Amino acid sequence: MMRLAFLGLLLAPLLAASSAVADKAEAPGVAAFRTVQAVLTHPRCMNCHTTVNWPTQGDAQVRHTFNVVRGPDGRGTAGMKCTTCHLATNQAAGNVPGAPDWHMAPLSMGWTGLSPAQLCKALKDPARNGGRTGARIIAHFKADPLVLWAWTPGGKRSAPPVLHAKFVEAAETWLRLGAPCPEG
Ligand code: HEC
Ligand code: HEC
Repeated sequence: MMRLAFLGLLLAPLLAASSAVADKAEAPGVAAFRTVQAVLTHPRCMNCHTTVNWPTQGDAQVRHTFNVVRGPDGRGTAGMKCTTCHLATNQAAGNVPGAPDWHMAPLSMGWTGLSPAQLCKALKDPARNGGRTGARIIAHFKADPLVLWAWTPGGKRSAPPVLHAKFVEAAETWLRLGAPCPEG
């Protein structure tokens, strides 16, 4: 009895320490996803990937001015098309951001309010991401003009928190390690 109690005393702090380590260190695949997540949830991306009927703008992600709405195909309504104002490049004079075929991501690709786990699942769900497999997700990250725009957003707009190359690298690592999602 005495010896067991002694053993317990000895083991308790050890067990506590090891579970604390397990809580802190995420699996490498999940850690890679965190970098991807930091970009996806940045306002430059979120402003087009909303779950409401309109795009948002600025770092505060407020509703787009002029009562702009997504319209039937994400390109606005007949009287208020995105490309009436948003040209293929940023327009310095009017401070209007631009990239080719500027339009909103469809509702199924809306990320507003998703938890990290929900965002992770949505990103790899072909039913929600436009039927994209891993390789096509990477291709999209590497070369899509609307994704690339986020790193040269014009005006005083901030860019996502990691360099584009680091973002692509993290996404590749995440997929290579089986695209695991965080809990919660
Ligand atoms: C009447 C002109 C006009 C129309 C139409 C318009 N926009 Fe904009 N949009 C602007 C201007 C100007 C800004 C810059 C606002 C600012 O940053 O102060 C802007 C900013 C944005 C931003 C914010 C960029 C950022 O990250 O801060 C997004 C996203 C956006 N527009 C998407 C759209 C989409 C999608 C459509 C069509 C459904 C659209 N806009 C239609 C003029 C327009
Ligand atoms: C101007 C609006 C706009 C901006 C800014 C934008 N996107 Fe998108 N995004 C779209 C549209 C539109 C689609 C749908 C394209 C398609 O399916 O052909 C899309 C699709 C996607 C998809 C595929 C769908 C999915 O859920 O997996 C991903 C991933 C994505 N965007 C990531 C990003 C990232 C990361 C950023 C910021 C670095 C970003 N987007 C910025 C409009 C935008």
